[in-house]
Order: sequence, then C-alpha cells, then structure tokens
Amino acid sequence: MNPKENGSARDQRVVRLYEQLVEIEQRLIPTGLHVFGRAAELAEKADLLRMVASFDRPEHGARALPKLVAEALGIDRYDALLNEASSTETRDVVDGIVAEAIREFCEGGADTAAHWLNARTGVESEESLPVFLLLARIAEELDSNCELESLMRALRGEYISPGPGADVVQNPNVLPTGRNTHAINPYSVPSQLAFARAERTADALLRRCFEERGRYPRALALVLWGLDNIKTQGEGVAQALWLLGVRPVRDALNRATEVEVISLDALKRPRIDVVMTVSGIFRDLFAPTMALLDKAVRRVAALDEPLDMNYVRRNVAEKVDAGGSEFDDAVTRVFSNAPGNYGTNVNFMVMQSQWETADTLGDLFVTRKCFAYSRDSKGRTIEGREAPELMDDALSRVEATYQNIDSFEVGITDVDHYFEYLGGISRAVEKRAQARPSIYLSDSLSPQTKIRSLEETIRLETRAKTLNPKWYEGMLKHGFRGVAEIENHVLNTFGWSATADAVDPWIYTDIAKTFLLDAEMYRRLQELNPYSVQSLTKRLLEAHDRGYWNPDEEILERLRDLVGNLEDRLEQTAG
Ligand code: BEZ
Ligand code: MG
Repeated sequence: MNPKENGSARDQRVVRLYEQLVEIEQRLIPTGLHVFGRAAELAEKADLLRMVASFDRPEHGARALPKLVAEALGIDRYDALLNEASSTETRDVVDGIVAEAIREFCEGGADTAAHWLNARTGVESEESLPVFLLLARIAEELDSNCELESLMRALRGEYISPGPGADVVQNPNVLPTGRNTHAINPYSVPSQLAFARAERTADALLRRCFEERGRYPRALALVLWGLDNIKTQGEGVAQALWLLGVRPVRDALNRATEVEVISLDALKRPRIDVVMTVSGIFRDLFAPTMALLDKAVRRVAALDEPLDMNYVRRNVAEKVDAGGSEFDDAVTRVFSNAPGNYGTNVNFMVMQSQWETADTLGDLFVTRKCFAYSRDSKGRTIEGREAPELMDDALSRVEATYQNIDSFEVGITDVDHYFEYLGGISRAVEKRAQARPSIYLSDSLSPQTKIRSLEETIRLETRAKTLNPKWYEGMLKHGFRGVAEIENHVLNTFGWSATADAVDPWIYTDIAKTFLLDAEMYRRLQELNPYSVQSLTKRLLEAHDRGYWNPDEEILERLRDLVGNLEDRLEQTAG
C-alpha cells in the first residue's frame, strides 16, 4: 500500500477489496458434476434453494425471502440496496439471516424454518411459509428425478412427458428433470418479464460503456444463443430490442411479430446499432424472432431522427451515401451459419493449436458466421445468404461486444463455446475495426443486474472455480472425468488468451502452482488421469510459447521436465 495515500483513499481501496472478496465468496458454483440419474445431496441443494428464495414468485404466492427479512427488520429500500454496486453491512445482515433460515429449512422443514424466522426477525409465518413450501416442493423434486427411467423409455421408443426448458432458479417448474425439454413457442419471445428485466441489463451495459469511453458505442456486437433464450424466455433478444429502442408488439394471436418504436424522449439516449450473431440452434428454433430482430433494425434505420440520436440510421446512411450499397444490404444485422451448419470451429482450432495468428481465428469466425438472414428490397426473406462483405462492414463499426450469461452452472471457462463465440467475434472486430473492442458479459443470474468486463469475469470465474479448492476437490471426486474437467477449464481459459488476450499472467502461474508444482496434488492428478495432466502441462507451455505468460525460467524448466517424464510414463503404460 502506498504510504503517502491518504486515509480516505485507503479506506476506499479496502472497501473495493472487501467487495471483491464478498463477490467471490457469494458466487454460486457447482461442486461436482451431475451424475445422470443421481439426486444431489441436501447440503448441495442449500445454495440453490437460497437462490430460488431470493426472487419474488408471484405464481406461487411467495415473496423474496431477503425482502421479507428486510421489511421485518425495518429496512426500507432493500431493492435499491441490491442494485447498489457496493455490498453493505445491512445487506450482509439480511443475507446472513436468509442463509441461516435455509439451513433451518434443510434440517427441520418448512414449518421449523418459518417459526425460526418469526422468532429471529418477526417475519409472519403466513408470509414466509409459501416460500418454504415452494422450497420443500423443489427439494422433493430434486430427489425424484426420472432421468434413467426416461432414457430407457426413449430407447424403447415410448412417450416421455414434456417439461419446460429453463434454469431451476429462473423457473422451478423445470423439475423434475428427465422430461422431454420441449422448446418454447418462438412467437412468445421475448416474454413480458424478459423484456422488463432486459431494460435494466441494457441500461447497465450502456452505462458501463459510457463510463469507459465518455460516450455511447457506435455499434455493439451481440451473441445470441438458442438454449439461453429458451431458458430466459428471450432476455438476450429483449436486450437487443432495448438497445435499438423498440418494444415487441403482439398480434391478435398473441404472437410477437411487430415492433413499436420507443420515443427518444422516453429512451433518453441514442438508439444503438447492434450486429447480432446467432447460433445455429437459435436459427433453427427462432426463425420468427430473427425476422423480428431484422424488422426492428429496418424500422429504426428508417426513422426520421437526428443522426446523433439514432446510430443505426447514421451508420446505414453513411454506408449508402458512400455509394456502392443499397439500403437492404446496408441494414443487414442478423448473421448466422449457413443453413444446416453449426458452430464457429474457433474452439477446435484453438484446441488443436492449429493457428498462427489471432486474426486466423477472427477470420474463421466470419467465414462460418457470415450468412445473412434478412429481406430483399421486395420484402422476400433471405435465409442464409453468404455475405462476408456485409458482415465485415457491420463489424468494422463495432466498439464493444457482449453476451448475456444466464446460468451459474455454465460460465465462460466451463465450456469452449463462450470463447469460440464471444472471443471469436471480438477478434473479428479487432481486425475489421482496427481497434480492440471492449468486451462485456452480463450476469443476469442474481436479483441484481451486473455487467462485467471479460477480464473481470475471467478473474472471478478463475477464483471462484478453477483455483477454488471447493470446486476442484468436488471435481476430483469424479476421478478421471474430474481431472479432464480441470484440464477443460485451463483450455477454456487459454481460449480467452487466444481470441481476446484477456487473461492475466498470474492466472497461469497459479494454475501451474496449484495443479502441477504442488507435489501431492500432482501425484493425485497423475494417478487419476495422466492424459489430462499431460495436455494441461503442454497447454501452459503453449501459453508461454505464444506470449500470454512469461513465468520464471525455473517454472518453465519444471513444466518441461514434467512433460518429458509424463511422455516416458505414458509410453511405458502403452507398451
Ligand atoms: C445454443 O444454445 O445456441 C448453443 C448451445 C451450445 C453452444 C453454442 C450455442
Ligand atoms: Mg459442445
């Protein structure tokens, strides 16, 4: 700490540090893999139940438990407190009581918990009981999954009862698992709730962009996935509509097929240009939604508004005025794979170390994703016209890239798809706009909306998962597969270096120290899965070779020795 720093600056730094610690501590993480057909232990469910209890559930007549507690303690403005960036003592007190109430519930059931809460805080039992009864139902359903049975039925070609697709926290009706996750009606997207939630997220995203640039971005690139938009009833779609400044309008059959323009007076900010890259799954499930998004961009581009308040119009007009482009081309903003194709292949290229410069990865992204889904001048739908020049052009104005995250189970270092998409598009933008975009993710899992930069998200995920003994010990209980998961995390972290150069070097150092340079841990991993240990070690050396990490020579020497020893051992095993 700087000794010249005055007291108040120091206090502020301590508070910021404290907030970060609380954020890591409170982050929900899966502490092991799901074993098909096996129910979770009650203790493992406690965090999940606490999360479920943090939201109002009007459909179950249940109010958010933290709000009930806050009201009983005479704390008004609890909602406002939640949305304040900083954690406060008041919030800690409320959260502590809620956690304790959930423990009481796990031990003694709904009535016990309601009584305990009444004695502790004065919350009337009639008020809290609906929450605990909902939790009781969820706990029971978590115990009674029909995954194996349904699999057997499916293999026999029998009927499997359907269930909605969503996150348990977002929609507890997904339970019990083991049902046929039918997709939703695409015309119902975005739901009213999704649209309401998306306003806060889009505002928070633009606020963050503004704080960093001193102005709004000329254009944003968004990644939209199918499963995510099923889970959230279209929050990602709704965020795109908010950024453009339009709301969905339903027709006589209650289908969201039109948009209505939100006035600039009501919006109080410019309309933001958005380039949308949708996954193959999204394209297959949400054709009417893609048409809605395309319609929204066209409508906004055609509005008679000042150019400095309507960036879509400004960008389209610039393009058309420069000549060589028709309105219908200049306004194309929805891109995906060729019909029948999926994915970007960026993840495979990274995994197999088959790329020379990072531009190769961005170019591959565009090659795979440059198929336009729009309309021609006669209003006929275009379903997947290969249009790299239109995508190049749209990306050349992008200043920030963004993806909505909606699950605490699957984060940006758990699977390779986040870096292939968000990393891939960011790299494509960097070359085409000749500047690295700011890269953001939202966290729409918790009651409070949070926007983080990619770098912040990687730090948080690394601390909460990869380097967290609770997480990796949970994985190691699964033996061979658990070590493979640790290796996956390292690969996915590396993927963020490859595509976005967004990983702090200390992360690689701590991974090396935790898993490879600690003799006892190394021995355990080796015994469970020498193949993954080998790949992990080589990946760290590749991170060094490619310039993402420059540790002490001593560390490198030890890693090289490990690779040598492992190769000998694996050869002996094979022989
Ligand atoms: C999707 O839901 O669209 C998706 C799922 C996995 C990987 C990429 C996209
Ligand atoms: Mg996959």
